[in-house]
Amino acid sequence: MIRLAQRIQPLQTNVFADMDGAKAAAIASGQSLIDLSLGSTDLYPPAAAIATLHKALDDPETYSYTLFHSTHFFRAACARWYERKFGLAVDAETEVLTLIGSQEGTAHLPLALMDPGSIALLTDPGYPSYVGGVYLAGGEIHSMPLVADRNFLPNFDDIPARVCDRARLMVLSYPNNPTTAVAPPNFWQQAVHFCQAHNIALIHDFPYVDMALDGPPPTSVLTVDREKSVSVELFSMSKSFHMGGFRVGFAIGNAEIVRALRQVKAAIDFNQYRGILRAAAAVLDNPGDVVETSREIYRERRDRSTAALAAIGWSIPTPSMGMYLWAPLPPRYPGNSMRFCLDLVKTTGVALAPGRGFGEMGEGYIRFALMHEMEILEKAIGKISEFLQQYARG
Ligand SMILES: Cc1ncc(COP(=O)(O)O)c(C=O)c1O
Repeated sequence: MIRLAQRIQPLQTNVFADMDGAKAAAIASGQSLIDLSLGSTDLYPPAAAIATLHKALDDPETYSYTLFHSTHFFRAACARWYERKFGLAVDAETEVLTLIGSQEGTAHLPLALMDPGSIALLTDPGYPSYVGGVYLAGGEIHSMPLVADRNFLPNFDDIPARVCDRARLMVLSYPNNPTTAVAPPNFWQQAVHFCQAHNIALIHDFPYVDMALDGPPPTSVLTVDREKSVSVELFSMSKSFHMGGFRVGFAIGNAEIVRALRQVKAAIDFNQYRGILRAAAAVLDNPGDVVETSREIYRERRDRSTAALAAIGWSIPTPSMGMYLWAPLPPRYPGNSMRFCLDLVKTTGVALAPGRGFGEMGEGYIRFALMHEMEILEKAIGKISEFLQQYARG
């Protein structure tokens, strides 16, 4: 029997793997699946991305390994994009790093920042790669609960001094998946002060930078920590530009942290195909109106879906970001979030994400990913209505 590393033990229970099994079983039993459980968009990447990638395939210069130095054009495009958006200068050489998506960055950063026994401050609920990365680095987790009464913002005063002493990093992400909360600027001031006071790296996972639907644009932590004293921000081409399958994102921020993450990555990967980086750079330099158009699409989906759910007796708070709904379990539903999602997909073919999959504090919630056209979303809500009526009848 092959002996496996202890560190993968905590990775072996995964609610989403159980949901995959339930989806496959529903299809096998003849249900037609409407999958609203994944944050993978149905919208298309900008035409410039596709055209640039096509062209790259005919260019033999793209065929060899993409070593670190040759990604300068991509890092420079990231720096230009950031500077245009947030008005803060960024050094493309020392403060930018290419990522294979922001998930990759969040999972590898603990290897660069943590020693066995040190602590990561993570929100609960939170995106699963944060926890996974800390376990792989042999670190410990201190959970910062996100609750509706505090607008899903952590309370830094609740973190004990003995935890602060051992903490190496904190991960925050707003607009937030799964709670859909958007953090106000003064929250970022508190976060930066806290991390500066305790010498903790502040990682802002920021893939939803363009997904706030109401109010002012979300804050970049670097515009608060202008010296980039403790902060790094992770961006993604997956959400704003619908390029999830391309696997490309980037980190911007504190040069020491960027260098440390580069060292980890140098041992692990050789960057993406250069055609992908060219496609991403083309979009960053010329985004056109893709972001505004998709925000309008998500706004319509959000408004019509929450109205349709309210009409079937499942009222949920209107999220301030696009893409997701974070719904408390329907009134009088007797089971937990996993039971709800397993029963729903089995009897109707509609797949939603159980809140428990994002952490213990996610229990009691269901996440909808609004990644289909309205017609399909309405069909799904119709099926959910029948499912809830069956429950009401007992
Ligand atoms: C909070 C958060 N971080 C990271 C990711 C992954 O992004 P990427 O495709 O850039 O790896 C997601 C995807 O859903 C996410 O919700």
